[in-house]
Amino acid sequence: MNSDDKRRILVTSALPNANGSIHLGHLLEHIQTDIWVRFQRLSGHQCIYVCADDTHGTAIMLKADQQGITPETLIANIKTEHEADFRDFLISHDNYYSTHTEENREFSEQIYRRCRDAGMIEIRSVEQLYDPEKNMFLADRFIIGTCPKCKAENQYGDNCEACGATYAATDLIAPRSAVSGAVPVTRKSDHHFFKLSSYQDFLKDWTRSGTLQEQVANKLSEWLDTGLQDWDISRDAPYFGFEIPDAPGKYFYVWLDAPIGYMASFKNYCDNSDELVFEDFWRKDSANEVHHFIGKDIINFHALFWPAMLNCADYRTPTAIHTHGFITVNGLKMSKSRGTFINARTYLDHLNPEYLRYYFAAKLSSSIDDIDFNLDDFVLRVNSDLVGKVVNIASRCAGFINKKFDGVLSGQVGATNILDDMLKAGDTIAASYERCDFGKAVREIMALADQANRYIDAHKPWVLAKQDGKEDQVQQVCSDGLNMFRLLITYLKPIVPQIAADAESFLNVVPLTWDGRQQLLQGHKINQFKPLITRVEADKMTAIVAASKEQPIAADESAEDEASDIGPEIDFDDFAKVDLRIARIEKAEHVEGADRLLRLTLNIGSETRIVLAGIKSAYQPEDLEGKLTVMVANLAPRKMKFGLSEGMVLAAGPGGKDLFLLEPHEGAEPGMKVS
Ligand code: MSP
Ligand code: ZN
Repeated sequence: MNSDDKRRILVTSALPNANGSIHLGHLLEHIQTDIWVRFQRLSGHQCIYVCADDTHGTAIMLKADQQGITPETLIANIKTEHEADFRDFLISHDNYYSTHTEENREFSEQIYRRCRDAGMIEIRSVEQLYDPEKNMFLADRFIIGTCPKCKAENQYGDNCEACGATYAATDLIAPRSAVSGAVPVTRKSDHHFFKLSSYQDFLKDWTRSGTLQEQVANKLSEWLDTGLQDWDISRDAPYFGFEIPDAPGKYFYVWLDAPIGYMASFKNYCDNSDELVFEDFWRKDSANEVHHFIGKDIINFHALFWPAMLNCADYRTPTAIHTHGFITVNGLKMSKSRGTFINARTYLDHLNPEYLRYYFAAKLSSSIDDIDFNLDDFVLRVNSDLVGKVVNIASRCAGFINKKFDGVLSGQVGATNILDDMLKAGDTIAASYERCDFGKAVREIMALADQANRYIDAHKPWVLAKQDGKEDQVQQVCSDGLNMFRLLITYLKPIVPQIAADAESFLNVVPLTWDGRQQLLQGHKINQFKPLITRVEADKMTAIVAASKEQPIAADESAEDEASDIGPEIDFDDFAKVDLRIARIEKAEHVEGADRLLRLTLNIGSETRIVLAGIKSAYQPEDLEGKLTVMVANLAPRKMKFGLSEGMVLAAGPGGKDLFLLEPHEGAEPGMKVS
């Protein structure tokens, strides 16, 4: 590539909220982004990938409050956890920052001032529900009451989960604050609005200028055609965020400073780099590119508010916004009771991250339809494609080259028809990557792998090796096979970077690049072959689902999660592994900030265990002390949000108040085995 073709690209993934763990949904997005980023780098472009935690807002403030820590401590803890999760999934962020930083404050203030000076900020009085006990205004999400339409109880302030009705929080029957339980009152307060309605025409053009997938542009037309509402960008104290410079006691709404966090993270990266200049990417006439990757639930923030604000503040708008759909598991929404709400760390405790990277790649396209993670299909796909088709080529060929030819490949290239086809296919595969149609890229690569395997099957080096005078042919077929393998790995490298790195050291080559693929290996010495990846065992997937299930068995769950079906069958050996013991509850305590958990100190004769049990709705701690119960004593300790839990107590019942701990009586002693 000559230097004129070299693109300079800044890429972002949406900023994960700093009030929870990284889960499959976030991973889908970061894996999608990372594959695109690695593909660009592999093609010789400069590609900088930044992200950050989204740290502001009421939810984070209340959560810190519940845990008895400052929001600053909460977000610092979560950031450490998020960074480790992404690192272990091989996500190649150049910078992972935070929205609670000086850079972000400065940009937020600057953009606000520019919008204000352009006459685009208006102050209006707004009437809102207010919690008189907590002394705070309540967002719709923090108000619960009875649905005005179907009379279902315990519905949130914006819509009813039972009948789907949408309404204003003030329409709820018998509303109460989800924070304190108090009956809210209405109060007036001044709010700052960004005059989004003035950007109607600008946005109609912008959303149709090739920056968005067509599906997304069509969706936005619905809003654009009915007319845009101005956007409320302020919130009253108490709020965890940035105070508005000319309005004491008023804070920027979290969604104002969140996308500005992309700029802040990049600025922070530039300030630590010798060659990168922030303005080169963000000034209005910049020819460099800015790409955002997001989920479909946050389109309006990125494709309406964000470009309007940037334009108003005299910055460039994004080159493209790439939107993906939502993850479902076995066709259903992720669910804690089904064990399909899978956190990054739970997955990593059992399986190799590259399996998931490969599976997501195979499922991703440029559509915004939801993406199903089918657990059986996952196991099949990884085993048949990665292990059975790709790695298999190397393991079939390497042995002969290592043993018979001292690791040296043939001095010539044979199978030129196939290798030519495979080289040419690189262009179409590259186009699929560029369009984010990774599923198509994977299908194309696997078709090439099939071709390579057919070639080896047809020439049977294992048969030739037993015949006299066929030495050269053995060497040629295996060398050709390894050249095919090298091309396949080049094409898969954005998806499985670690397998690619291991393959590079086995092939004894410098890091593979898209253009470098043209140079086939001849008379080259390779290293000893080591298996690059092993098969996924199906029981690993079962273990992940089990570890993702919320304890205890009869935990309360939202209606959406209700699943009364009996789980998959286990055999006797599985059952026999469970070591049930009698335990005496020595101590039972509340867990600071947890709605459902009690911390139990259990005596099982030989030792003491701490178990966090979800039985708070049914028992007062003082009623439990001294009682006997049954526990699973050989359950691997689980790190839960509120600490380590070293086992599980058994309970049954419909849930809520009606949840009963198993209480053995006659002749039971702590430590006894239960059979
Ligand atoms: N903090 C905001 C984003 C601010 S960007 C300036 C936010 N955070 S989030 O943690 O809720 O979601 C982060 C990203 O993960 C979003 O793009 C969201 O669409 C994506 N996903 C969250 N759950 C998801 C699934 N179940 N499936 C796929 N992606 C989903 O929104
Ligand atoms: Zn309803």
